[in-house]
Amino acid sequence: MALREIRLEGDPILRKKSKEISIINDRIKILLDDMVDTMNEANGVGLAAPQVGILRRAVVIDVGEGVIKLINPEILESSGAIIELEGCLSIPNQNGKVERPEEVKVKYLDENGETKMLEATGLLARAICHEIDHLDGVLYTDKAIETFSSEEETNVVEKE
Ligand code: CO
Repeated sequence: MALREIRLEGDPILRKKSKEISIINDRIKILLDDMVDTMNEANGVGLAAPQVGILRRAVVIDVGEGVIKLINPEILESSGAIIELEGCLSIPNQNGKVERPEEVKVKYLDENGETKMLEATGLLARAICHEIDHLDGVLYTDKAIETFSSEEETNVVEKE
């Protein structure tokens, strides 16, 4: 198990666009494993590689249904719209109301380089959209209708 340092808002790396992964080598597999450890340690539901300082299109998500590792994820279709609170491990003690699609269809590569399709709804769909935004240098606060500091908003919120 290896933990990596989570980059916080204000770190310029969070605003850069991540590059596609062309070869899934051991370095990428170790990165994904470390990201899972780091996400779990921080009690998050998702983490994107730029959040640990690596500008590669890799994401890990666990909304309580098991870990999913997504390489080069791409949203093919989305439908519906729902406003919910979300948070981010890179923006501690804050959350905000963000409109996201209710349902997304995403294409990605798994660790073995196989193309996978996933249809997601609810929190999983939200997490996928949030993490893919990270790969493009976008933070949820860019899209939030309203943000709250944790002092103002005491609801338990999933962190991504
Ligand atoms: Co985040």
